Amino acid sequence: MNQDYIVPDNWCIIEEGFEKDRVMQSESLFSLGNGAMGQRANFEEHYSGKTFQGSYIGGVYYPDKTKVGWWKNGYPEYFAKVLNAPSWIGIRVKVNGEELDLNTCKSVRNFKRVLNMKEGVYTRSFVATLPSGMEIQVNVTRFLSLQYDEVGVIRYEVTPLTEKATITFESYLDSSIENHDTNWEEKFWNTLDVKQVGNRGFIVAETKKTAFRVCTFMENRLEVNGVVSNIQKVNQKENYIGFVYETSAEKNQTAQFEKYAGYVTSFNHPKEKLIEETEYLLLKISSLGFEELLKDQKEDWAEVWQMADITIEGDVKAQQAIRFNIFQLNQTYSGKDARLNIGPKGFTGEKYGGSTYWDTEAYCLPFYMATKNAEVARNLLKYRYDQLGKAIENAEKLGFKSGAALYPMVTMNGEECHNEWEITFEEIHRNGAIAFAIYNYVRYTNDFAYVPEMGLEVLIGIARFWHQRATFSKDKNKYVILGVTGPNEYENNINNNFYTNYIAQWCIKYAKECLDKVKTSYSNDFERVWKKTNLSENEIEQWLAVAENMYYPYSEELNIYLQQDGFLDKELITVAELDKKERPINQHWSWDRILRSPYIKQADTLQGFYFFEDHFTKEELARHYDFYEPFTVHESSLSPCVHSILAASLGRMEHAYTFYLRTSRLDLDDYNKEVHEGLHITSMAGTWMSIVEGFGGLRMRNGMLHLNPQIPSQWKSYSFKVNFRGQILKVSVSPKETKLLLEGISLQLSINGKDVTVENGKEMIVSL
Ligand code: BGC
Repeated sequence: MNQDYIVPDNWCIIEEGFEKDRVMQSESLFSLGNGAMGQRANFEEHYSGKTFQGSYIGGVYYPDKTKVGWWKNGYPEYFAKVLNAPSWIGIRVKVNGEELDLNTCKSVRNFKRVLNMKEGVYTRSFVATLPSGMEIQVNVTRFLSLQYDEVGVIRYEVTPLTEKATITFESYLDSSIENHDTNWEEKFWNTLDVKQVGNRGFIVAETKKTAFRVCTFMENRLEVNGVVSNIQKVNQKENYIGFVYETSAEKNQTAQFEKYAGYVTSFNHPKEKLIEETEYLLLKISSLGFEELLKDQKEDWAEVWQMADITIEGDVKAQQAIRFNIFQLNQTYSGKDARLNIGPKGFTGEKYGGSTYWDTEAYCLPFYMATKNAEVARNLLKYRYDQLGKAIENAEKLGFKSGAALYPMVTMNGEECHNEWEITFEEIHRNGAIAFAIYNYVRYTNDFAYVPEMGLEVLIGIARFWHQRATFSKDKNKYVILGVTGPNEYENNINNNFYTNYIAQWCIKYAKECLDKVKTSYSNDFERVWKKTNLSENEIEQWLAVAENMYYPYSEELNIYLQQDGFLDKELITVAELDKKERPINQHWSWDRILRSPYIKQADTLQGFYFFEDHFTKEELARHYDFYEPFTVHESSLSPCVHSILAASLGRMEHAYTFYLRTSRLDLDDYNKEVHEGLHITSMAGTWMSIVEGFGGLRMRNGMLHLNPQIPSQWKSYSFKVNFRGQILKVSVSPKETKLLLEGISLQLSINGKDVTVENGKEMIVSL
């Protein structure tokens, strides 16, 4: 099967030609989302071929009971899942009584899908020859409104090409929906009400256990040559409502069907009033109509791009890829609602349960901070603050006490909700990323006020956890951290993972630094938090004893930190020496063999060098990079971006570029052969970082932006923008020079090691 069938284009994702084998891949690639809901690009009409149906609502989840072979104390009780929600896109089409189904058509010609990322609109067109020989032209336009984020719009046009025909549309809502990944083959929705009011249909359904109530709705309109048709028949079942419309169209005359549909949920409205609220919404929507909604959509996306776009000249595939990444990140999370977060697959599939991982703090925060604003970034932090109580409960379940907080590796509501102990649960390093995000946010936005308000309590909980989790080793006369999994999930239950130990001591020191600063500058908050957390000087001293005497595995001979105790006992054969047929190893090797091997799934020790770059010299970085990268298989989508950034910072642009390509076109070219399951959303933020932090060399140091731009030899130029403390800086890089342009007042920054001041509207040119 052809993996890279997407036609290169600056602004669009394009597929040409219908191939049944690629339907599921394209369903992922052409997914739509608006931050509040999202859906795979399933066909509206009936399709009897292989498909993966998916429609999801932000924040609506189900705690599926964990399935493990042998239950042990401390296991998370459930695995939370983003739910496949009732479907509203369905429109069955019949021509002279014969059903349109691309799987059974005699032929499908001129098939084309276009995802116009500039406008946030997805179109599909084709000429189908039905089994009877009747030929029809179909054009479909669909979008999920950014402005009215409960609403999606479909325009479905059918034109008979052979002769005059009777065309029937059955537009429906269906709540008999299932998740592919249920642990116990259960259905997760109870349908409460199925209702018709005139041209409008409603299904009210509620999730089991979590009781999220959702009104899925539709309003339809069929028109041929200015004549509007009424509903002919209503098909109503327990979990289904369908309105049948019929019309006749002359040869080459178009029957135009419009559907306004979506979800109104108890997440945002009173439970008992969902239908009422929906009717109110539909009044507004239908008065606007298709064209007006489309116009709004284009304007709203233009606004997103105005700030978030990255341009690349000289490489269409790279340009298409970076825009695809930025587009998907914006489809997944808008930052409007601190209850929502970013699932690794966004709204494009079920894997990873749509839950929040350390990915948000470690990979996504910088993107939203720089392309939106401090408020959006603050919402991402607040999400964790709001879940602090649960993080404390999580730690208590494992035997920690006195307010120690262990944030979950995977969560929907603050509770740990994953069913793999060693691979996921033991990754306690995530606590570090959550503290690091607070630091990263404050250093970028200068909003230290977040710390006394919320962040400090989180930092205290985390510091307490590390203090209690470390063990004093008499043998080493140091504190050690035993039984963990680092970011490299191909090693489980190891002792003294360098990254974990390092970030643990850093968290403690940062918590202490923040405590001191809050004490001096925010004394009221300090007292409140001090009392609330029951903290004492004595406890802080104990934390610091751990931080200052932390053990790091080190090889004197190689002059490097070891990923964990005993790493050098492994058979150190590099990845390059492996037979290509055995890769990816996670699809070819037993777990036993993987665990014993030296192969690293994703940046681990190097993740530490990425976060704490300024704690190490360039020589140290080069030594560690040269040692670890050759053992790294990059089998997590989060791996290439960090390596790209580190390679760029070492001036190794060829490496940086190779890694960049891999991260940016991971899904478009289906490197990991799994795009049919959904897209890798969180690593898309890593792609953005590869350009801005990698090639652009953007860093924060001493309250100031630092740039050190380089450009891959394959590109003519590239540009990006960052919102830095309310001022917008545009950076355009070519092999000769860097141009800086400011929208704001004035900004002092460092470029190539030299301090400069950029004034509003005056372009500054710096030679490379
Ligand atoms: C990675 C984790 C990541 C998760 C979700 C895994 O494959 O190893 O680091 O958090 O995917 O993206």
